Amino acid sequence: MRVALLTGGGDCPGLNAVIRAVVRKGEREYGDDLIGFTNGWKGAIEGTTTPLDVEHCRGILPRGGTILGTSRTNPYKREDGVELVKKNLESHGIDAIVAIGGEDTLGVANKLSGEGVQVVGVPKTIDNDLSATDVTFGFHTAVQICADAIDRLHTTAESHDRVMVCEVMGRGAGWIATYAGIAGGAAEILIPEQEFDIDEVSERIKRRHDQGRYASIVVVAEGAKPKEGTIELSSGETDQFGHERLGGIANIVAEEIKERTGFDTRVTILGHVQRGGTPTAFDRVLSTRFGIAAIDAVHDGKFGHMVALRGDDIVTVSLEEAVAELKTVSPELFKSVAEPFFG
Ligand code: F6P
Repeated sequence: MRVALLTGGGDCPGLNAVIRAVVRKGEREYGDDLIGFTNGWKGAIEGTTTPLDVEHCRGILPRGGTILGTSRTNPYKREDGVELVKKNLESHGIDAIVAIGGEDTLGVANKLSGEGVQVVGVPKTIDNDLSATDVTFGFHTAVQICADAIDRLHTTAESHDRVMVCEVMGRGAGWIATYAGIAGGAAEILIPEQEFDIDEVSERIKRRHDQGRYASIVVVAEGAKPKEGTIELSSGETDQFGHERLGGIANIVAEEIKERTGFDTRVTILGHVQRGGTPTAFDRVLSTRFGIAAIDAVHDGKFGHMVALRGDDIVTVSLEEAVAELKTVSPELFKSVAEPFFG
């Protein structure tokens, strides 16, 4: 078979490990001819490709980013987008696509599948907000990067008796903030799923410092939501999938805490450091398992499906189910494991 790969949306540690696994098994076991579309759906629209074979994939297992490039292009945002994708698949003689991406990239894959395109999805995102899989690859690495940063913030926070507000990614779901906050021993974790009351947050921090346990780490997800009528947030530009560019809420949270407590505050916005660099061993293995399963799914004719982790097993689930709704942090998990350590 002739199989095309593409990586879409924000890059993510483990993308190259998936590509390598698809190519290795596709070429060596199935005798496939593999090809890459460059820069996500943009390459599929414009017909820009790059050769992919075992030789091209040497040494990429530990490398962050994606050798195929990526973009946030949505074929459904231009009138001739889908038609062009189909035309390019035909002109390149491509039988199937392995689309590696998050809710946006796989949302497109799902729609295209409904229009007869043979596509299999692989769940990627540091945000871990895709449904139908226990975890997405890249999440584990992002959490480790954040937890390492929080560990470092603790010592400087204690030395200066400060409140450190650390902003992490997560616009609709606070998985990174929750896991990194728990792993890093944060005094407060603010996530999109649970509106926060800045007065209550400040009060708890004040009590903590008054008890002589100086220094607090506040982990805030970029999409955290203040209780209505408390803090005004400005809105930024949006991408082709309608997502707003976020970043900067930590500055506001730090100012508000300072105003209410009088404590010295500092801000660290981890930003794209969370997405860069080498994947953890866990993500390398998960990505490899996903890649192997994806090329198997192509040969099993499981089009319109996504590979997923369920317990210890890699399974296939429908793309429809995967993109139906964002997987958010459950109130039970937050209440039972994160909140007991607040204040
Ligand atoms: O795709 C995941 C993500 O890392 C989000 O957590 C974040 O809001 C967004 O991407 C940032 O996107 P960009 O790389 O376009 O700034």
